[in-house]
Amino acid sequence: MSARLDEAEIAAMLRGSADAARDVGPAGLRERFAARLGEVAVRPDAVPIEFDGRKVEARRGGTILAAAIKNRLRLMHVCGARTLCGTCRVKIDFGRENLTPMSAKEKLSLRYHLSLSPRTRLACQARVEGPIEVESLFPLCGDLPGEEQAR
Ligand code: FES
Repeated sequence: MSARLDEAEIAAMLRGSADAARDVGPAGLRERFAARLGEVAVRPDAVPIEFDGRKVEARRGGTILAAAIKNRLRLMHVCGARTLCGTCRVKIDFGRENLTPMSAKEKLSLRYHLSLSPRTRLACQARVEGPIEVESLFPLCGDLPGEEQAR
């Protein structure tokens, strides 16, 4: 095989790759996006939770804090989910068994903040496995970003 043929083969391969990339273009992306939307629409991973009396949805396996943020609920989380501040503490009124077990880090943080009890969890650590009812102990004060425009 000569070097010239090798170049021709490489050129053909490059052309083939470019054609494949063209197929993925906007139309391909639109199809994939529509397919993804269809998957999300079924929402098998959505869990109904009640947070301070508001019925919202959490992602199965996601933290209570993530659900609160996603649903624009007011809950302090000063340390950014590092189990240091304890400001994300919540009281679980119903469905304690539907949360992941407490980790040693979470227990230590709750003990440090004199809040270790079976009904108290750190929203940044407790992951939702099923329906729960939660009451925030330190609701966030003030406006959330973007709230001024909503009014
Ligand atoms: S956000 Fe600080 S302990 Fe959860």
